Amino acid sequence: MKPRIKICMGSSCFRRGNRKNLEFIESYLEEHGFVAEVELVGSRCEEQCRKGPNLEINGQMYHEVSQEILAGLLEQVVGRCSGE
Ligand code: FES
Repeated sequence: MKPRIKICMGSSCFRRGNRKNLEFIESYLEEHGFVAEVELVGSRCEEQCRKGPNLEINGQMYHEVSQEILAGLLEQVVGRCSGE
């Protein structure tokens, strides 16, 4: 099963960083050739705005996701895709 990244596109998370996080994810997956290996979806507000920006990877929710945190998470996702 493909890893699934669900990024909150609600206005609060979007403003607090997910606009840039989305761009970061898209270019990261493109650079690493994993666009087709990962399911990337957006969600509406998850009602956890105060802890945003929020995103979920394989059902696990992450809060206050900065680009540094995101880079580490993506490394794990891509690592799993390539069987490392
Ligand atoms: S906007 Fe993301 S939890 Fe509300």
